[in-house]
Amino acid sequence: MRLLVTGGAGFIGSNFVHQTVRDRPDVTVTVLDALTYAGDENSLAPVRDRITFQRGDVTDSELVDALVRDSDAVIHFAAESHNDNSLSDPWPFVQTNIVGTYTLLEAVRRHGTRYHHISTDEVYGDLELDDPAKFTADTPYNPSSPYSSTKASSDLLVRAWVRSFGIAATLSNCSNNYGPYQHVEKFIPRQITNVIDGKRPKLYGTGENVRDWIHVEDHNSAVWEILQRGKIGETYLIGADGEQNNKDVVELILELTGQPRDAYDLVSDRPGHDMRYAIDSSRLRDELGWVPRYEDFRDGLADTIEWYRANEAWWRPQKDITESKYVELGR
Ligand code: NAD
Ligand code: DAU
Repeated sequence: MRLLVTGGAGFIGSNFVHQTVRDRPDVTVTVLDALTYAGDENSLAPVRDRITFQRGDVTDSELVDALVRDSDAVIHFAAESHNDNSLSDPWPFVQTNIVGTYTLLEAVRRHGTRYHHISTDEVYGDLELDDPAKFTADTPYNPSSPYSSTKASSDLLVRAWVRSFGIAATLSNCSNNYGPYQHVEKFIPRQITNVIDGKRPKLYGTGENVRDWIHVEDHNSAVWEILQRGKIGETYLIGADGEQNNKDVVELILELTGQPRDAYDLVSDRPGHDMRYAIDSSRLRDELGWVPRYEDFRDGLADTIEWYRANEAWWRPQKDITESKYVELGR
């Protein structure tokens, strides 16, 4: 199979490429990535001689057409992915997440290519802390931020292209990922690298907000199941029953790094901050038999801390510039 992976130099995409090269020697991988501030070719260094890398933009219709024409399937990870950035400057989110998805959909329509769309649980908005409900594929869309609204828009484009043009697409909406190669702007890597630098972790608001954590390897194993056996037109929610509030996560990072559990700062809250996400992944488990491998968050987090300790050369160039953006936001 010739697989085109957009956003393969980002966090989840690079892990997906590593996993694919490791486990599926019959698959030929081409990565299309614009190498924005969030993309790093070094994330692909361990597999660089086993893949083709094309630097380019998913909104470049000529380039996308040529790459899709030569592929059997496309996995579309590329996106602007950080909520805080979307609040400072929404435009790149509209361009990449909406126009980029449109560009890919038109190419797969022309060439009859199998397409899998990577999306987020944030399209469903948020839940109250005491609500017993979890998100399912039937939960109405209700995105809160510029980021999540552009992801929701891209999902709706995919659904419309399936219904109107009959493209062979599936969608997945996953909860918060953690693991190696995640940019230091994101919550867990930011706090781990702060502690490594002798700085205190920063919790937004009161730290009560809940995220449903899943290891990136589990997200990507689910994507492979859906690509191979998912029903065309279907949406699969990916989650590993990993609900934790932010305060508990920070306290665990501090404990695992040998710091006092209260050695963090409360900082100003993110505007419009979603309170809680929770995924019901029973369709994925029941229909496709998927099960997560990383069921112990403490162990997965300890491995991730070790990875950031061992790979300072990878994240160090991004750290100061990222923190200076947070200083401007007062967070
Ligand atoms: P990331 O920001 O780490 O990586 C995004 C990648 O896309 C980068 O390599 C970047 O260079 C590339 N990119 C950005 N704009 C591009 C463009 N116009 N053309 C080509 N490449 C471009 O993001 P991530 O966390 O790996 O997320 C990947 C996908 O998974 C996104 O679609 C995101 O919405 C989705 N998702 C993420 C999470 C999470 O917890 N991180 C959870 C659910 C879904
Ligand atoms: O739910 C899936 C989504 O998860 C993905 O679609 C997004 O691409 C991904 O970035 C992530 O979005 P969040 O906004 O949940 O992730 P983030 O890492 O930015 O923040 C996680 C939680 O931690 C959130 O409640 C905000 C909080 N936070 C974040 C940072 C950076 C802090 O308390 N302190 C921080 O310094």
